[in-house]
Formats: sequence, C-alpha cells, structure tokens
Amino acid sequence: MSHLDKPHRNWRRTRLTHLLGIDYPIIQGPLGGFRTETLTAAVSNFGGLGSYGGLNLDPARLTALVGELKAATSKPFAVNLWVSMEDAGARTSGVAEFEQARRAIEPMLRELGAATPEYKPYVPVKFEDQAQALLDAGVPVMSFIFGVPPREILDECRRRGIPTIAAATTPDEAKLLDDAGVDVIAASGFEAGGHKGSFLAPAEDSLTGTMSLVPQIVDAVRAPVVAAGGISDARQINAAFALGASGVQMGTIFLPCAGSGATDLHRAALVAGGVHTGLSKGFTGRLARAIHNRLLDEMNAPGIDVLPYPLQRALMRNLADTANAAKRPELIAMWAGQSAPLVRACEDPAVLLQRLVAEVARLRGE
Ligand SMILES: Cc1cc2nc3c(=O)[nH]c(=O)nc-3n(C[C@H](O)[C@H](O)[C@H](O)COP(=O)(O)O)c2cc1C
Repeated sequence: MSHLDKPHRNWRRTRLTHLLGIDYPIIQGPLGGFRTETLTAAVSNFGGLGSYGGLNLDPARLTALVGELKAATSKPFAVNLWVSMEDAGARTSGVAEFEQARRAIEPMLRELGAATPEYKPYVPVKFEDQAQALLDAGVPVMSFIFGVPPREILDECRRRGIPTIAAATTPDEAKLLDDAGVDVIAASGFEAGGHKGSFLAPAEDSLTGTMSLVPQIVDAVRAPVVAAGGISDARQINAAFALGASGVQMGTIFLPCAGSGATDLHRAALVAGGVHTGLSKGFTGRLARAIHNRLLDEMNAPGIDVLPYPLQRALMRNLADTANAAKRPELIAMWAGQSAPLVRACEDPAVLLQRLVAEVARLRGE
C-alpha cells in the first residue's frame, strides 16, 4: 500500500504529530540568523514545533540556549544545525581572494560611506561539538540541514529518544537521510526562503519545486515527510497534505511576526506586497533566495567573484549593517520565499497560527 492510499483523515493527527508529540503538524522552520527564542517558544507553546537556527553558535551558547528555551516552553522545540558549515576552499582562501571578492561590493560600500571590510582569518565552528552540546543539554528535537548527520550522532539521538529532522532538496538526498535513520524528512522545494540545503549535487542542479518534490520524496522514503518551501497560507497547507506530507514547515510567513529577528526594513518589504524573489550565491557563498532587489542583481552580475561559504557571508556583513542603518533596503539581502506576497503583518505568531489552523479546517469542511 502506498502512502497515497492512507491519507490522513484527521489532518491534526499525523505521523509527525505522533512522533514529535505536538498538537499541530506545523513546524516553524529554523530561521538561521533571524531566529529568536521568543518566536521559537511562541510556536511551540501554540502546539506547533518552534525551531531555532543554531548554525553559528558555539557549544556553550547552545547549552545555555536549550536551558532558556526549556524555561520559555514546556513543549517540544527543535534546534537546527548545519552538518556542513564551510565550502571547499574556505580554509585556504586568503587575503588576495578576499580583496578580489571585495571589489564587487566596493562601489556599494562607497555609496553608503561604509567602512571597508578587512580580511580576518576564518575560525571554523565544529559541528560535532555543537551536536554534543545539544545532546548533553537534552534538546527535545534536533534538526539538520546541509548533509547527512554522522551515524554516531543519529545513534545517540535514538538512544536518548531525541527525534531528528533533516532537509532534502532531491529524492536522492531524502533516500540517504532515510537510510541513515533520520526520523523526519523536510522536503525543501526551491520556493523556500533562505539557503538551498543541497548536499549531493550543486544547489543549482537541485532546484525542484515543492509540488513536484513532496510526492517524489513521499514515495522514496519510509520516514514521514514535511513539505517546506512556498507555503504561506491554508490552501497551500492543505495541498501539502494532499501530496502525502505529514506536516508543513514554514519560514517566510514568520518573518513579519513580532519577536522574529527580521529588521523593520525587511518586515516592511515583506508585507508591502508585490515582492518577487530570486536566487544568488553572492550573499553568503551558498545559493539562497531573497527579495529581488538591486543587491541581488549586483551580486549576480557576470564576472563577480564570490568567496566560499561562510567567508562571503562575513565579507557582506558590514554592507548589510550600514545599509540597514541608512534605511537602504535595496542594498540588503532580505531573505524570502516565493510565497512572500501571501504573507501578512503579524503581531502575534499564536494569532497567525490560530487563523491558519481555523482556515485549514474550514477549507476541509470540518
Ligand atoms: C531567513 C531564513 C533563514 C533560514 N535558515 C535556516 C536554517 O538555518 N536551517 C534550516 O534548516 N532552514 C533554514 N531556513 C529554511 C526554513 O527552515 C524553511 O524550510 C523555509 O523557510 C520554508 O520555505 P518558506 O520560506 O517559503 O516558508 C531558513 C529560511 C529563512 C527564510
């Protein structure tokens, strides 16, 4: 019997809600640098799964974070790690490469009167140490992107009863994660805001839309599948269930919420309507989706040199901070998924979720 023969009769009770011990099959995606404890706890307190992007935090901070989140919610939440945190060449790239890449942004820096970023040697954060800190702190759920977590970590999660979630952008990636024993696969379509988490083939060759990706992954794996990418309203949530998903993961919709880490300029751009998005490697060194603006065009211009992740991210920081202070949204990478035009201003994530949940039920005739 295929997954399609067993649709979830009650959309609120799925393999995902059962496995994670949550009330609604809705995950707030880890929002990388835009994460906040307030948002994560609010979504978990509502009965979804709040996630917190731990990507660049050191082990001591991750330990403290889990304690703080446990104080803010008694419900399950996830902390997300990047299995691969640097691209080839990050450790050997030096001053010459830095200066070459900086040339692309110098006119924008000058225009803003921003200080010229100086080369600093790259200090890697060790994924294994981060994962160990989360395990020892008793994180309720661990989620991963950019790779297959090592066997010892997955074994340890299983031994300690910590469910795991990992992102796949292709059916091949999903199969690898499933075979490795990951409990939940987040099928991440190319509509999604933020980075494309591809790890088998280059992200540019792994761009599949959610509508196409979800049923392919549902058919390919044993684990429950969560649909991620371009889901910003109740119609799309219902569509994800119709495709065989056991839950949805949304990111962009939470960015305008009170308590998210998005700046005022970013929020204003998201809710202004008429936004369209594009992909670039120029913001961080890895392919990511953001609002189509002048910066995206500048960074996609032919002949631009981009440093390996995460060096490009560090190079761009000063430009972003100065553009933000100068209120120049056209020069800021404003992460957003393709369904950004469907998102609304949101004072309270719980109110947003309540509205979505009611709308899902209404559309299902419940
Ligand atoms: C600003 C931003 C940062 C993100 N950072 C992460 C991250 O660190 N780890 C991760 O697994 N997913 C990350 N994502 C992806 C989300 O978890 C989620 O899968 C995605 O936002 C869903 O697509 P949507 O933006 O169209 O809703 C990020 C998304 C955004 C918008």
